[in-house]
Amino acid sequence: MLDSQHPLQPRLDEIIGGLRGLEGPLLPILHAVQAEWGHVPQEALAVIASALNISRAEVHGVMSFYHDFREEPAGTHLLRICRAEACQAMGGAALAEAAKARLGVDWHGTTADGGVTLEPVFCLGLCACAPAAQIDGRVVGRVDADRLEALLKECCA
Ligand code: FES
Repeated sequence: MLDSQHPLQPRLDEIIGGLRGLEGPLLPILHAVQAEWGHVPQEALAVIASALNISRAEVHGVMSFYHDFREEPAGTHLLRICRAEACQAMGGAALAEAAKARLGVDWHGTTADGGVTLEPVFCLGLCACAPAAQIDGRVVGRVDADRLEALLKECCA
């Protein structure tokens, strides 16, 4: 339970109160919390666990299993690289390594200037144009290291 004066508490109570009656409420609550704050704040985990009568470790386990949830705020720009099969078969691993090297971060990392967060994603629906990436919501196909560089320059200019 958070201190009742904690700035998250009122909105967190509303979110949990509105969704806890659902069958399988944890995922909808986590999605709503991330939609509200851009990530799932550490302080929220214990509140959610307590409200659903599960352990904090269970909440954390679900967050780790689903790659959409992040524990820290994202950078200004969000770069997602597809890690699913069709993209892997078409150079997705090399693209992922190029992105990590270019940004100097690992998966879920954010560049030191807070500019770009790198996340894996599992199919962007652009399998025919693999390997695919998504930058600030825009899905792009046939991305290689050069195209990636151009996209980063475009978005971060
Ligand atoms: S497998 Fe990458 S877009 Fe579908």
